[in-house]
Amino acid sequence: MERRSTASERIAVFFVVLVIATFSALLLPQELRPGRSANVANGRAVYDGGCIVCHGADGKGAPETSAGFRRPGTFPDFTSCDQTTPEPDANWKAVIVHGGPHRGFSPIMPAFGQLLADRDIDDVIAYLRGFCANNTRRHWPRGELNLPRAIVTEKAFPEDELVVTTAANASGAPGYETHFIHEQSFGPFDQIEIDAPWILQDQNHSYASHVGDMTFGLKHVLFSSLRTGSIFALQGGILPPTGSTKLGGNGTTVFEPFAAFDQLFPTNTWVQLQMGADLPRHPKITPQSLFGNIAVGQTIAGDHRLGRQWSPMVEFVAARDLQDGAKTDWDVLPEMQVTLSPRQHIRANVGVRTPFTDTAGRSPQVEFYVLWDWADGKFWEGW
Ligand code: HEC
Repeated sequence: MERRSTASERIAVFFVVLVIATFSALLLPQELRPGRSANVANGRAVYDGGCIVCHGADGKGAPETSAGFRRPGTFPDFTSCDQTTPEPDANWKAVIVHGGPHRGFSPIMPAFGQLLADRDIDDVIAYLRGFCANNTRRHWPRGELNLPRAIVTEKAFPEDELVVTTAANASGAPGYETHFIHEQSFGPFDQIEIDAPWILQDQNHSYASHVGDMTFGLKHVLFSSLRTGSIFALQGGILPPTGSTKLGGNGTTVFEPFAAFDQLFPTNTWVQLQMGADLPRHPKITPQSLFGNIAVGQTIAGDHRLGRQWSPMVEFVAARDLQDGAKTDWDVLPEMQVTLSPRQHIRANVGVRTPFTDTAGRSPQVEFYVLWDWADGKFWEGW
């Protein structure tokens, strides 16, 4: 069966192609960090002069007897790549410039902003980076590529975080869908994801609630480059039919593969792309479908990018059943993420999702989440 696409669908597709083409064109010549390259020899001199007494010649920490303090639980071991690569340079720089308490760390870590020139601090960070032998071709992805989480679009970076995210109907019958998402990385490239949804719906003026279809996912990073600002990952997911079909459950096991590509630009603008499919075991119960999501945003932070981060973004969310005569559902979701804790490991995001094609029976939704990056400290630490 042939179906003519509607004007708004064609505009949407045109827009998506335009965005992808523009960003790929921008990507080719870019270097994430142009300008002066760090002077590691100077960084070493700074380290030997001001840091070695506490952090030790090997970067693991000077013996407690000679350093003269008890190590806090979060004391860094700069040789351990799994601790250091997820930290963007800006996190370290904020601590070195303003001292430990600025990011909710121990006051034993002094502030060097008055003692060292800006370039000395950049140089010593470059020297710190050398403690983790991350120079193989297949290296740990760097924390700079861990872009602000969008509400719908899944990112490529392997995370250690807990997210509670809720979508509430903004019109029509009240309905809430809350997801408890646990993400945990292991090794340089991999991450598991467990997503447990809870659904609460007003059905003819009485509330019905049930767990939804859970997701168990495995993500693998295939490529990442700090120089070009890009990261690419694949994820395979399985959704057993744990949900109630009366409340939107699939009623059959669904396999969900997707690809995610994220691109950061020197201006702190970024784009996140996710494309995948939902492939049910019994397509007669639930049809197969394709989805594609894009998030485009900008991160803004005062104090030379060391302060609180605000990330306004807009998502374009598309899904289409693989059936004759099926329509593509397009939604637009402007939103704002902000870091709540000074350590920036607790973040919140709020947005409004509006359907703009195939709108019958699909209500606008208010969506928000709270995120805890638990690798950076306990929930109540770092304030
Ligand atoms: C007087 C001891 C002392 C000196 C000197 C010192 N540090 Fe620290 N530094 C610490 C302690 C203690 C911590 C851990 C704080 C915590 O986890 O609460 C720390 C933490 C850090 C961190 C980790 C921040 C994070 O995100 O985990 C960095 C980076 C750092 N120091 C860099 C430096 C550099 C660079 C110098 C020299 C310019 C330096 N430190 C000098 C004691 C010191």
